[in-house]
Parts: sequence; C-alpha cells; structure tokens
Amino acid sequence: MDKIVIEGGIRLRGEITVSGSKNAVLPIIAATLLTEDACIIKSVPNLRDTNTMVKILRALGKSVDFDKGVITATQGKNTNFTADYKLVSTMRASFCVLGPLIGRFRKAKVSLPGGCIIGIRPVDLHLKGLKALGTEINIEGGYVVASAPKLKGNYIYLGGEYGSSVLATDNVMMAAVLCPGKTVIEAAACEPEVADLAEFLIKMGAKIKGHGTPTIEIEGVNKLHGAEHRIIPDRIEAGTLIIAALITKGDITLKNASYKHLGAIIDKLEEAGAYIHKVDGSIRICYKKQLKPINITTLPYPGFPTDMQAQMMSLMAVTPGISVITEKIYPDRFMHVAELNRMGAHVQREGPHAIVQGVEFLSGAPVMASDLRASASLVLAGLVARGKTSVSRIYHLERGYENLEKKLEALGAKILREKE
Ligand code: UD1
Repeated sequence: MDKIVIEGGIRLRGEITVSGSKNAVLPIIAATLLTEDACIIKSVPNLRDTNTMVKILRALGKSVDFDKGVITATQGKNTNFTADYKLVSTMRASFCVLGPLIGRFRKAKVSLPGGCIIGIRPVDLHLKGLKALGTEINIEGGYVVASAPKLKGNYIYLGGEYGSSVLATDNVMMAAVLCPGKTVIEAAACEPEVADLAEFLIKMGAKIKGHGTPTIEIEGVNKLHGAEHRIIPDRIEAGTLIIAALITKGDITLKNASYKHLGAIIDKLEEAGAYIHKVDGSIRICYKKQLKPINITTLPYPGFPTDMQAQMMSLMAVTPGISVITEKIYPDRFMHVAELNRMGAHVQREGPHAIVQGVEFLSGAPVMASDLRASASLVLAGLVARGKTSVSRIYHLERGYENLEKKLEALGAKILREKE
C-alpha cells in the first residue's frame, strides 16, 4: 500500500488542467450497455473507479478499450446480465448498470452495493423508480433480480428523505429511454453529471427534456445508436484545487474548469473573502487577504456539495473564528474530523454539525484516509501544516482523483508517494 508524504508550508503557484468528471463518466460508461453500436467517450479520467466500471462492463459482455483518456465500447460476443458482488461491492456507482440492463434486455441481476463508511446509503429510490416503470424486482441472496417483460412509461416522484438521488435519477432515466410511452421523473437530481448523462443519451437518440431541472421528461424510443461524447470537467477536483490555492495562500489558474458548476462553492469562498476570477473554461484563485469564517450546509445541487464538505473543513480549520458545517446529505460523513484534530485542528462534532474553531497553524502528523473526500481534506491540511504529514491508505484518493500528487507537485508542493 502507498502513502503520500507532504512537507507543508509552500505557496502553490501555476496552472493546472482539471480532469474529466468521475461522477459523470461512471453512469455514461454504464449507458453504453443501451446500444450494440460503438460508443466513444473522451476526457475519461484514469481512476480506480473508472477502471472498475470498465471491468464490470467487460464482465457484462461488452468489449471495452480504455487508452489515453478515451473509452471505446462495442458489443462483445456473450452478453451477461449479472453484475457480480465482488465488483459492485467495491464501488456503489456500479449499481447504475441496473437501469440500462433493464431498458435494453428487460432483465438483470445486480448485486446490492451495501453501505459504506460515509453512511448507510440505501437504494430504495432506485427500486421504486424502476418498479414504477413496470419492473418486477426480487431480492435474492444479496442481489436485485429484475424482470421487465412489459415496461411502460409512468409519472415517478423520486424525492427521498434527503432530497433527490443522483444515481437513482440516472438509473431510472437509463431504463426509461427505451421504455414505451412517456416518463416524467419529478424531484429528479439536478447535478451537472446527471445532465451530462442525459446529453450523452440524447446523442444516442434518446428523447429527453428538462435534464438539469427537477422535472425530467422522457419519450421512450425503440432503439439507441452509438455516440461520441466528451465528459464535463470534474467540479469536485476543481473545488479541491481551489481550496489548495487558498489554504496555501497561493495563486493558481485552473484550465478546463466550469465556474457555472461551482456556484455554491465559489459563492461561499467569496463570502469568506477569497478572490476568484472566473472566465469561461478557466478559473484563477489568488490569495489576497486573511479569510473569514463561514457557515455551510450541504444540499443537493445547486446547493453546497457534500463531496466538498471535508475539504472546506480543512480550510476553515486554519481560518480564525468559528465556522459551522452542517451535513444534510450524509449526516455521518465526518470521519476526517478525528484525523484533522490529530493535526491540531479544533473541530467538535454535534450530530450533523461540525463546529470548527480556526487555529493559527496545523502540525504535520501521520494520518489515515477513511474515504475519498476525507483523503483529499487530509492532503489539503498537509499542504499547510508545519512539518511532515503522511497520509496512509491513499487507495481511497486514487478512486476519484487523477494524479493528484503529481498535479500538486507541478504547482510547487513538496509531495511524494512512498511505499508503506
Ligand atoms: C452521488 C455521487 C456521490 C455524492 C452523492 C451526493 C456518484 C457516482 N456519486 O452518489 O459522490 O456524494 O451523489 O451528492 O455520482 N438515498 C436514499 N435512497 C436511495 C438513494 C439515495 O435515501 O435510493 C439517500 C442517500 O443515502 C443520501 C441522499 O439520498 O442521503 C443522496 O444520495 P445519492 O444522490 O443517491 O448519492 P449517490 O447517487 O449514491
């Protein structure tokens, strides 16, 4: 296992390109199951998660080539309808092969993904939506066994206790595009990654309106064809690099970054006093003055993303004053708190709230990554901490950041990967 070792205290400077979005590409790879024609996907980040998704598609009988950021998926020889526990349990997003398998083949057997460190993460909304389209679903031996001889479009309210669901919206949309009649998904997730999936499906011949809003309307078609698509930039990677610039009092320009997808993050950072210059396709973050504390609450898009909560906590940990962070998507997503406190942060958890009292400095320490975004928050803390920080279990980081340590190194950070 590898760890990342950082010598903190260097102001990051320079220009860096943001990779394609992890959360957009994973369902888009799954969507290639909807056609026998060739699909070409560009700007695909080389991540542990994208490679897992490629393995799942191959196991389902697709022929998939992944080279230099381009995926080419074509029909393989033997189609298989079972997505195995071994692969699905390693990555929740793989559950979104269920919708396309049902849409195209009218049957599927997909392992239930289970919970993970950030919370219980049920799939009731996925199943509710697919049932509303006429799918019969049984749970057998930890698998969802689905059969859908008579699919039909329907009106589906897809909101849950914590708001909309990204992957449930993806799953239902991918089944509905090949479903006779009209489907309306109400309380649909509005995330840019859901809209990007819809754009890909439209290129494949699907009839979809309203994506990017809470009401998605789909008119089913008989068949989809191949398509070519470039993945949108990763807004969470961009947000993480913005924080890297601010926490180190640096000056960074991000290329291939869409500020329109970063509204809530930039708004909060500007409230804290950050200078962020937005031009289309590029963002410059330049530290000019001491930031002020802010309160944030995570919400579905366009609200503040839960996937940026941990990174924001690292920044607030070194911002004088008291900031309150409220987690409304995954109330237990606070595994990073104890590790940040080991570095000298003053963060106290009260149920779904974290009260962060900014300190003058953090001290480098050996810390352990617990999940993807928590790992990023520890790397950010290491960049500003006095002395050496080593972050172990960085396979979490590799799930969702393409060459993060290389990108930070290119910006001047003293960071390297070592064997544990
Ligand atoms: C996606 C993102 C993940 C992000 C999350 C929330 C991908 C690959 N992953 O995950 O990075 O943190 O959105 O923005 O895109 N819920 C239910 N029932 C369901 C499904 C979800 O109650 O059937 C709840 C969840 O427990 C959570 C909330 O709804 O509290 C939102 O989860 P959801 O949007 O589904 O997350 P994912 O799509 O799994």
